[in-house]
Amino acid sequence: MSPVVRPRRLRQSAAVRRLVSETRTDPAQLVLPMFVREGATGPRPIESMPGVLHHDLDSLRRAAVEAVAAGVGGLMLYGVPEHRDAIGSGGTDPDGILNVATRAVAAEVGDAVVIQTDLCLDEFTDHGHCGVLAADGSVDNDATLLRYRDMALAQAEAGSHMLGLSGMMDGQTAAVREALDAAGRQDVLLLAYSAKYASSLYGPFRDAVESALQGDRRTYQLDPANRREGRREAVLDVAEGADVVMVKPASFYLDVLADVARESPVPVWAYQVSGEYAMVEAAAANGWIDRERTILESVTAIRRAGADAVLTYWATEVAGWLRNR
Ligand code: PBG
Repeated sequence: MSPVVRPRRLRQSAAVRRLVSETRTDPAQLVLPMFVREGATGPRPIESMPGVLHHDLDSLRRAAVEAVAAGVGGLMLYGVPEHRDAIGSGGTDPDGILNVATRAVAAEVGDAVVIQTDLCLDEFTDHGHCGVLAADGSVDNDATLLRYRDMALAQAEAGSHMLGLSGMMDGQTAAVREALDAAGRQDVLLLAYSAKYASSLYGPFRDAVESALQGDRRTYQLDPANRREGRREAVLDVAEGADVVMVKPASFYLDVLADVARESPVPVWAYQVSGEYAMVEAAAANGWIDRERTILESVTAIRRAGADAVLTYWATEVAGWLRNR
């Protein structure tokens, strides 16, 4: 029997496949997360994330220029401070490492790319939680919102264009929006890490920021078992004024991403996190998978599920591949 319907006709050559491809990625749809370390002299490798560096201010500037030259659309900055305390003072200090680095990068490439900063206390607290603690040791939601408001003003002042709200406190988007607006900073964008799950895949990141965390973040990040809740958090963030909402991690949460993308009136991004990066690098280093194909397939899958843009540690490299095709 000879089939009448032959889907393979559409796959017969590279030229036809190119013409009917449903998902393309432009370098501008990639955001590069970067780490800068206080007191560093020269870049240093991060063991659990081969190929990713702890930057000093100079190497950070150079890597930012390189990313912009490759066409990357945004940079997301993370600071690793020398000293930490209970309230994460380094996050609100204008001379704290993240704010210093933001000024440096903004001066270098601020007109050419969207500069983003992590708005969360975990890198700056000595207990490693994303907020301040109540007397009983629990994370105090509303007291944390006051710290986030101050941190937002410090980051805006340093030149960040877009604040990445990654702490998963209730009401954080509204609180930060109100603080910025009251200060006349209606121009600053808010990226809400809306559906941020309590994932094992942040492990390498916590090494990278030398996190002091004991325990876990399950009282504020979402339970990986819950799909509806991811959608709910995105709906709330949109109502609170988020300009962009995000799903994180990406690859294990493509169902949540598709749900949010289907309904969201604002752009939806996804964060391909440190563990997703480390798994691919480790398998590729062993020769078990084709590194370039796997990376491109992973980014394509995240875009196909509905992400308008992807945060990925491979942003500069992928942007280079996309441009040379
Ligand atoms: C919180 C934050 C985390 C990541 C981004 N922002 C860590 C956490 O919630 O523990 C993880 C990113 C990654 O794993 O690549 N400041």
